[in-house]
Amino acid sequence: MSRSSVSASIAARPAATDAAPGTSSHPLARPLDDETRRRRDGIFLRYLEERDGALEWPSRKLARREARLASLEASPVRSHKRIDLARFHANHEADRIEEGLEPLMLFLLLVAKINRVERYGVEVAVAAGSEARGAIDAYILAEEDYHTRLMHALLGSFGIEIEMRNPSAASRALVHLIVRLPKSWTMPIFVCSELAALMIFDLLIERAEQLLADEPAVRDRVVELLREILTDEMAHVGYARAHLGRTGAFAARTLLPLVARGIFGDLGEVSRLFDPQRIGRGIREYDRERLSARCLCTPLALAL
Ligand SMILES: [Fe+2]
Ligand SMILES: [Fe+2]
Repeated sequence: MSRSSVSASIAARPAATDAAPGTSSHPLARPLDDETRRRRDGIFLRYLEERDGALEWPSRKLARREARLASLEASPVRSHKRIDLARFHANHEADRIEEGLEPLMLFLLLVAKINRVERYGVEVAVAAGSEARGAIDAYILAEEDYHTRLMHALLGSFGIEIEMRNPSAASRALVHLIVRLPKSWTMPIFVCSELAALMIFDLLIERAEQLLADEPAVRDRVVELLREILTDEMAHVGYARAHLGRTGAFAARTLLPLVARGIFGDLGEVSRLFDPQRIGRGIREYDRERLSARCLCTPLALAL
């Protein structure tokens, strides 16, 4: 799959309707009215406090998340699948992955590379003092930090320890853009990147269920870790959406294929593991009901 085929498939409109994105419940389909948008921040902050517990800064510790992570770490699950670690690390460090990698190796490499972008994003945002933008921003930053720990735990189930490398120049540029420009300017880009991340985690869960079907304990653990992340990304999409006015929603719809192209083009594993039409359709149609069922949601989260 080429980068352009992903973005073309996202930009493509379903034959039966000329609406884009494809459904009226899509986060970018129409902006929320002002009153609803104002209310959303309060709802979202309550949701974060309920899901994550108290936030400690500068350690970025979230009381409830810390407890959940500690209980997972206290009962590690280890796969018996043989992973060629030398091959994994060679591909993890290479600019381009080699041909002929098996699906599980591609799956693990993709997790490691997403982790790279998440880690870089947190470092840049913390260095820029992004938490000063408000309590919600600080919570989101802390959640992104937990995503890197959850992905480390996932890789650990396969005996993989990685050294964090910087992501590609394109990903670094996207991170700096989101962190450094005023929030009102970057919300359209932020919502697009959160949507793309949400779709990747949704597909990763599906693939984990297939690849690890013969190791139920490992499958359940991997899926649990990925669902933790997916739950956050879905809420981040809801939050970002509430910060888009009419112009912002239009900008996000316009930018979506470009941002997705940048993100997916950077992750060669995506095109080897998933069908581009499927990714495009997932982003365009945004099946809220199915995604919500994947979430470890509280009713408050579903209200976003
Ligand atoms: Fe994340
Ligand atoms: Fe996120």
